[in-house]
Amino acid sequence: MFMNEVIKIIKRRRSIRKFRPDQIKDAELKAILDAAIYAPSGHNEQPWFFSVIQNDSFIDELSSKAKEVMATSQVDWIAKLGKKKRHILYNAPTVIVISGRKGANSPLADCCAAIQNMLLAAESLNIGSLWVGLIAHAFGDGRILVRLQIPEGYEPYYAVCLGYKQEQVNPVAAERNRNVFVYID
Ligand SMILES: Cc1cc2nc3c(=O)[nH]c(=O)nc-3n(C[C@H](O)[C@H](O)[C@H](O)COP(=O)(O)O)c2cc1C
Repeated sequence: MFMNEVIKIIKRRRSIRKFRPDQIKDAELKAILDAAIYAPSGHNEQPWFFSVIQNDSFIDELSSKAKEVMATSQVDWIAKLGKKKRHILYNAPTVIVISGRKGANSPLADCCAAIQNMLLAAESLNIGSLWVGLIAHAFGDGRILVRLQIPEGYEPYYAVCLGYKQEQVNPVAAERNRNVFVYID
């Protein structure tokens, strides 16, 4: 199969859930954020906003708040996860919350493209990353939204954890379902 540096990084990237506590370098963070804003966006609206958090106690608070809400969920697996000891942001030293502008053409798709750019840029720098959807459970708390400094008219969707990997070798990729293509004449 054809291979180059970009394809190698795409295939090597894995969700990392064990981070070293030391902070990533500012230059690395800037390169990852810069990669984010080079993502495509519908009508080139660039309807995204990034809240960068490097304050451990706020990161812990985000995890605790999300878990507190999850624990009351009607959905069994979410309630169970909410009651577990596990940090939902895996004690990552950097967490980025991604928000989209309401009323834009395709803010969720655009933010997801920016997130994937961040994950790939991180992997290219050998920095671990994780896309976290469960964080959304913390977004019902108005005080948390104020602290995220999200501009008026934007709504938070996801978080990305970043940090140096605790283990040098990435986890093995989960089996990919290859029966998802059709070639149409
Ligand atoms: C929209 C989205 C939300 C996700 N939310 C979480 C999450 O809350 N917690 C988590 O540990 N992983 C989360 N993940 C990571 C997935 O579990 C992971 O991508 C999947 O298991 C495939 O593994 P890989 O990323 O190593 O290829 C999320 C991924 C996506 C795309």
